[in-house]
Amino acid sequence: MTTAAASLHAAPAPTTLEDFFGPGTQPGALAVEIESSTRCDGCHGGYDPVHEPYRPWVSSPMGQATRDPMFQACLTIANQDAAFAGDLCLRCHTPSGWLGGRSTPTDGSALLATDMEGVNCNFCHRMVDPWQSSPINPPDDDAILAGLPDYPVNPHSGHFVVDPQDRRRGPFDLENFNSHEWRMSSYFSESSNCAMCHDVSNPVFTRQPDGSYALNELDMPHPTQDKADMFPIERTYSEWAQSAFAQGPVEMGGRFGGNITAVSSCQDCHMPDGTGRGCNRNSRPIRDDLPRHDLNGGNTWLVLAVRELYPDADTGLDEASALASVARAESMLAAASDLEVWQEGTELVARVINQTGHKLPSGYPEGRRIWVNVEFYDAGGSEIAEFGGYDLATATLDPAGTTVYEAKIGVDAAMSAATGIPEGPGFHFAVNNAWYKDNRIPPRGFTNAGFESVQAAPVGHTYEDGQYWDDTRFAIPAGATQAEVYVWYQLASREYIEFLRDENVTDNSGQVLYDAWVATGRSAPVEMDEVTIALDPAGGCNLADIAEPFGVLDLTDINTFIAGFTTQDPVADVAQPFGVWDLSDVNAFVGGFVAGCP
Ligand code: HEC
Ligand code: HEC
Ligand code: HEC
Ligand code: HEC
Ligand code: HEC
Repeated sequence: MTTAAASLHAAPAPTTLEDFFGPGTQPGALAVEIESSTRCDGCHGGYDPVHEPYRPWVSSPMGQATRDPMFQACLTIANQDAAFAGDLCLRCHTPSGWLGGRSTPTDGSALLATDMEGVNCNFCHRMVDPWQSSPINPPDDDAILAGLPDYPVNPHSGHFVVDPQDRRRGPFDLENFNSHEWRMSSYFSESSNCAMCHDVSNPVFTRQPDGSYALNELDMPHPTQDKADMFPIERTYSEWAQSAFAQGPVEMGGRFGGNITAVSSCQDCHMPDGTGRGCNRNSRPIRDDLPRHDLNGGNTWLVLAVRELYPDADTGLDEASALASVARAESMLAAASDLEVWQEGTELVARVINQTGHKLPSGYPEGRRIWVNVEFYDAGGSEIAEFGGYDLATATLDPAGTTVYEAKIGVDAAMSAATGIPEGPGFHFAVNNAWYKDNRIPPRGFTNAGFESVQAAPVGHTYEDGQYWDDTRFAIPAGATQAEVYVWYQLASREYIEFLRDENVTDNSGQVLYDAWVATGRSAPVEMDEVTIALDPAGGCNLADIAEPFGVLDLTDINTFIAGFTTQDPVADVAQPFGVWDLSDVNAFVGGFVAGCP
């Protein structure tokens, strides 16, 4: 389906493969190609659906990163917007295809069946620590690194280094083992192992002194290859690196599962340690620090869509592994945030607290969002007002009066002039060069300077240093006696899915995506939190009226304030800046108390 919007930029930007060059191991440089994961399944699969590597991996987003219909539809738009941009995409979404030299043509038409495995076993387990920064590295690394023509500057954008030989690296010292070549590498237990792909930058732009991003001279690699000089699309790794989790383990009470409760690295939360065997041989030890290949975030949709489009025989999925993946993603979403709700005078306050190791949500910016939804009820149990309501039938969110946590990227005036795409937020991944909104909630340990330094500062919203939560205030409607408050996560908005369909003038991947989206429930929002609160309808004549009986200012208000102030309870956090219990709260409380109730 073609629309007027598509014809605005009939020709792609005249970029070439050179513009998307990145250092690290290059296509065609491997002496032994990346093995298919079907060659691992025989020993590393089929024996323990929770602890074996195969089924959790194959049902994770990385195991389906190439088949992903949203990826395929977006790949087409990227190639439409900027010639050869698809090479950048395929590098991370099918590293075996890219390393094998099959990423051109950049629409993926030269990929083999094994390349559709996405980010597969053998690829990950041949990755080399380019800076040898982790404590234990295989001795072979010296020669591999010395042989590289171009060296990555910092970890991002798929600038990975891969062992040209099939020497499988992993976290363990495998005694008495010779079924295949293996090397112990502590790189695999560190977040830097994920950084190569979980910081995504667009190399066709260079950062300017004023902080904007300008198109490079074309047909030439990026001049520095430093992520700090490129346009930032995803900064999940950098967000983590600037969080408290990067400083060492943070006690989280076991909310991410596995055998440890204090977590630090990506692996601690996304590959929690379990008790089991790493392969199906009973001669091998049962380990209680066995990382599970869960590798799930918030994506509850992808495996269902892939099963809609491909027979299980082609994907390695089955009903049980797909449902297990969806359940893992749902439990990640439930663990990701906490919701605190309280009444403050005539207002209801909903505080969403980020418990993840990066922004909430993090990563892919297009169409992804989290929002607060409040339903107010009267004494008879009838709903009298709603904010953040979502209509499942039309897949439409009403954002009025609530907060939607999301990132919006688009083109600035200069790129608009160059491409014909209207200035402002949009979904043109390959040519976007400006951030218009980013109110996603920062993680523990957030500082403005730290996030600014990794191109991940909030945009259009303010967070104080140390603040890893956000408050939304709702005026309590007259007659309300109860409120139900929810936090919802949505992988992809209808607007984004329709864009990928309508903007496509090349192939049917947008329509394929759209149909799969309809068939699998239109990326229905997933509940993250739910709290029900009784409201005092008389409630709160001013800021100081924080305790029952409402409508009068008395000793219970004073006592509640003092107790709340000492324990840093939200009830005593009555004035800005919120999240800190300081003199402004005391002054506001005293002021309200002195003013009295009418
Ligand atoms: C013939 C059986 C067999 C096959 C096939 C096999 N492996 Fe293994 N692999 C093992 C066994 C056994 C272990 C040791 C497990 C343990 O001690 O916990 C192992 C260990 C490993 C380790 C851990 C290394 C470390 O130091 O921590 C990695 C990584 C690995 N295999 C990757 C792969 C990959 C990738 C494939 C497919 C390309 C594969 N294996 C195919 C049997 C096999
Ligand atoms: C540096 C590696 C990297 C590059 C380059 C890259 N991606 Fe991705 N992509 C990712 C990661 C990591 C995610 C997952 C992020 C998340 O879930 O928040 C992702 C997610 C996506 C998603 C969302 C998929 C879903 O099911 O939710 C789409 C669509 C996508 N990428 C398209 C592209 C396109 C098109 C390009 C090229 C213009 C591209 N990517 C380039 C790493 C990369
Ligand atoms: C303290 C635990 C924790 C740590 C540490 C952590 N994550 Fe997450 N991550 C989560 C949870 C919980 C979610 C689900 C919420 C969500 O999807 O936004 C998540 C979601 C994600 C997503 C999907 C984002 C989205 O929009 O849905 C990606 C991609 C991701 N994490 C990658 C990483 C990487 C890479 C690292 C390390 C650099 C990391 N995570 C560190 C807990 C963690
Ligand atoms: C995204 C990269 C990635 C992919 C894909 C991946 N692994 Fe791993 N694997 C890791 C990391 C990282 C560790 C170590 C985690 C840690 O130490 O906390 C690991 C650990 C292992 C281990 C040792 C411990 C264990 O859990 O058994 C084996 C064996 C292994 N992987 C095999 C595989 C196989 C087989 C596949 C495919 C079915 C696979 N891996 C896919 C990154 C990956
Ligand atoms: C070769 C690049 C690559 C590497 C290395 C890599 N990832 Fe990914 N990862 C991706 C891509 C691409 C996706 C998105 C796939 C999709 O949705 O289409 C992804 C998705 C994910 C997701 C799912 C996010 C969601 O929305 O649910 C998690 C979690 C994740 N990765 C964690 C990790 C961790 C942890 C590591 C390190 C052990 C790692 N990744 C290493 C490329 C990579």
